[in-house]
Amino acid sequence: MSSRLVVALDVPDAASARVAAAGLHGHADVLKIGLELFAAEGPTLVREFTDAGWGVFLDLKLHDIPATVERAVSRTVDLGVELLTLHASGGPAMLAGAATGRGDSEFPRLLGVTVLTSMDAAQMQAVGLEGSPAVAAERLARVAHENGCDGVVASVHEAAAIKAATSRNFLVVTPGIRPAGSAHDDQARVATPALAVSSGADYLVVGRPIMRATDPAAAADAIRREMEAAFVDG
Ligand code: C5P
Repeated sequence: MSSRLVVALDVPDAASARVAAAGLHGHADVLKIGLELFAAEGPTLVREFTDAGWGVFLDLKLHDIPATVERAVSRTVDLGVELLTLHASGGPAMLAGAATGRGDSEFPRLLGVTVLTSMDAAQMQAVGLEGSPAVAAERLARVAHENGCDGVVASVHEAAAIKAATSRNFLVVTPGIRPAGSAHDDQARVATPALAVSSGADYLVVGRPIMRATDPAAAADAIRREMEAAFVDG
């Protein structure tokens, strides 16, 4: 199976992150470090995980002038992370700057964030974005594809359209994953692991259904079994 399971380490400090990572060893493929943990612990913790052999998804959602993003991306290359996010709405020059910052290195793979799942039609209109979230996501995915990104973060429901509008090899990374019967929390547009795999998602990002489970390793294993079954069926 080619789809990989990413666990969102949405915890406040290195101690909790280390406990969670130790429990997930052999049960997940990639750990996602977001703004909360990065603001608390910085690159030292990122390097600790990559040195230990973990794939790391550094979810910094960069958005600034092209030169600043270029330099920031160049500073992440040595961290050895697998995935790094930046806002596709930063525009073609910023995205191209990020690709320049990565230089000849294969990693990090650059992922454009299309439309945040917290943005609905009203929120988008308030900031002058035209069209539905799905239409805007596809438009931004094309911009990301044309300007040096390796993929996007998008909802499962947009994955197939984005692959069709860009390329089969353009990575689609999907949060909002909920095994059937589990709590949706604050996610509005959720999908099961099976639907994500059959829609072509390359990485499934799962946070609370694993991190808040009584047995996180067992929860991750169950999701991986569902992913595997969908892959075999597909
Ligand atoms: O707990 P849950 O599975 O909802 O966590 C999903 C993770 O994916 C969180 O870290 C969240 O910040 C992130 N994310 C998201 N939607 C996006 C982008 C990132 O839920 N569009």
